[in-house]
Amino acid sequence: MIAEPAHTDAPFSGPLQSAITYEKIPTNIYADAKAASRAVAHEIADLIRQRQGEGKPCILGLATGSSPKTVYAELIRMHREEGLSFRNVVSFNLDEYFPMEPDSLQSYWRFMREQLFDHVDIPAGNYHVPDGTLSPDQVAAFAKQYDQQIADAGGLDFQLLGIGGNGHIGFNEPGSLINSHTRLMMLDHSTRAAASVDFGGLPRTPRKAITMGVASILAAKRVVLLAWGERKAPVIASAVEGTVTETNPASYLQTHPNALFVIDEAAASDLTRMRTPWLVDSVTWDNAMKKKAVTYLSMTLQKPILKLTDRDYNDNGVSDLLAQYGQAYDINIDVFNQLQHTITGWPGGKPNADDTNRPERALPERKRVLIFSPHPDDDIISMGGTFQRLVDQGHDVHVGYQTSGNIAVADDEALRFADFVVDFNKQFGIDSPGATHIFQDAAAFLRTKKDSDRDIDELRYVKGVIRRGEAKSTCRFVGIPVENAHFMNLPFYETGKVEKKPLGEADIQITMELIEKIKPHQIYAAGDLADPHGTHKVCLDAILEAVKRLRRADPTPANFMNDCWVWLYRGAWAEWDIHEIEMAVPMSPDQVMKKRLGIFKHQSQKDGVVYQGTDAREFWQRAEERNRTTASRYNRLGLAEYEAMEAFVRWKG
Ligand code: F6R
Repeated sequence: MIAEPAHTDAPFSGPLQSAITYEKIPTNIYADAKAASRAVAHEIADLIRQRQGEGKPCILGLATGSSPKTVYAELIRMHREEGLSFRNVVSFNLDEYFPMEPDSLQSYWRFMREQLFDHVDIPAGNYHVPDGTLSPDQVAAFAKQYDQQIADAGGLDFQLLGIGGNGHIGFNEPGSLINSHTRLMMLDHSTRAAASVDFGGLPRTPRKAITMGVASILAAKRVVLLAWGERKAPVIASAVEGTVTETNPASYLQTHPNALFVIDEAAASDLTRMRTPWLVDSVTWDNAMKKKAVTYLSMTLQKPILKLTDRDYNDNGVSDLLAQYGQAYDINIDVFNQLQHTITGWPGGKPNADDTNRPERALPERKRVLIFSPHPDDDIISMGGTFQRLVDQGHDVHVGYQTSGNIAVADDEALRFADFVVDFNKQFGIDSPGATHIFQDAAAFLRTKKDSDRDIDELRYVKGVIRRGEAKSTCRFVGIPVENAHFMNLPFYETGKVEKKPLGEADIQITMELIEKIKPHQIYAAGDLADPHGTHKVCLDAILEAVKRLRRADPTPANFMNDCWVWLYRGAWAEWDIHEIEMAVPMSPDQVMKKRLGIFKHQSQKDGVVYQGTDAREFWQRAEERNRTTASRYNRLGLAEYEAMEAFVRWKG
């Protein structure tokens, strides 16, 4: 079961003391990015005030990217509500793309103004962002001058950092030297791939950036690095626990006397104290911890669970568990059985079967099922096999497509469709002014669109229609009536930009209305608890809030909502850890192939999509690998061998 994060501002009080054996950089773990950001913003505010008290300027090194946004938001709040003044702040930003115009949508100059400077009282001349408008031969002199300016200001009192998936700090990519200073840097492929989301594809993404060097960063009196979400977990673990190496520039912070990592639980998940807490301190051996330890032991020793011996437990730091539960034999059988019971070919419950040890109830035999799909293809990508089984087993399956997914359609794809409609109407003399204009306007806009232009409403509409058609096509393919596809178009998504609005009341209302209309016995939702900025997380928040409100409205059994189970699938690329899984739905080779064909219905998302990210594979390849990996993990633990499996966790909040 997934517990909701505890909303507390206190750092996570896990086995911190002995974690020091493993962790070479002080690391504070918070339940979520918000609580963590508050703590960092307060440290910055205290420093600003302290400097004010001394009549001195406060020299800040600032970062851009998604990580510091919540820190800046809290600083703005403190400025507005608590009178925090920035008049004595002098700031130097880490980096800027090169070349880059300051007013471009993607410029870091613009980012800083929008996220912080325009909302506080920092004097206009006090902030500095590397200049992306220089000619290449001017950069070296500029870089030298930038370092000199920082030194002349007295050096950085505080440096705020994010971290790239490859360990970069600023844009000091792997290979950067510890003594590097401000300079022009070639961006790593993975950095460009991550940034391509903001630039509308890799070809439009800059290849270079001006960045402060590692030495410039290490010279700061205090350095605080932020990281949110599980994508950052591996690089955080290697920076904090690994050796100092230029292949992970963040590891250089091990050499800094006053550095701190402030991260959320998801980004911490690969640290020893989270992954194998029993190696760090004494733990409470509840059932969840027991499953975690036994599956870990089995995987690490590459031995099926039923073959683990007392000696294996003792030699690998799990002797406490043995002491508590007796011999390995009993623990093995218990955990093995629990895993066995998660496997079912009947995700909607098996009629006329004893359901004591099955993940779902047998009754009612025919369930109403509501699958929520954040984007129009998440249903088939993440749970296509289960979707198909639910339909084949006679349940009344509906899909709630939460967002239009329109920004992920490439311009040339949209132009192809717009041209088709315009030409068709012309050919047949169809005079439907409203509709024709939408497509005509979209096509006209596309012919002159510049990289920095945001899509006009008409174009967003065309792109949304394309994705809706693909979703309907998948529904027909799986075998549900098209009326069972519900297009919710949640308003938080409709900004026309990568950055979305926060969850709003309208999003929750639309979600509640659909749930009330279907009155489902089962809800499936994308459970990306760990991605604080993503569309999936906002979509999940809308569902969980809607469910809570509907439950609260009438706590009696008469309320359908109290008989509705919520299953979470993993929407993005990660899968649930094996010890967390509560329902695993196997797929045969034929079913895997059928799911692949279902994913193919999303033609606009094939062949080099706009938001490819760092993984160059197509969605069907990623989905298949993930489902095969889950099956192979079960098999390696000693359970039956399946071709592939989709995994779910039940939300009981
Ligand atoms: C930004 C910067 C980068 C980012 C890093 C993480 O000024 O220098 O190092 O901090 O790429 O970016 P996000 O926070 O977007 O994951």
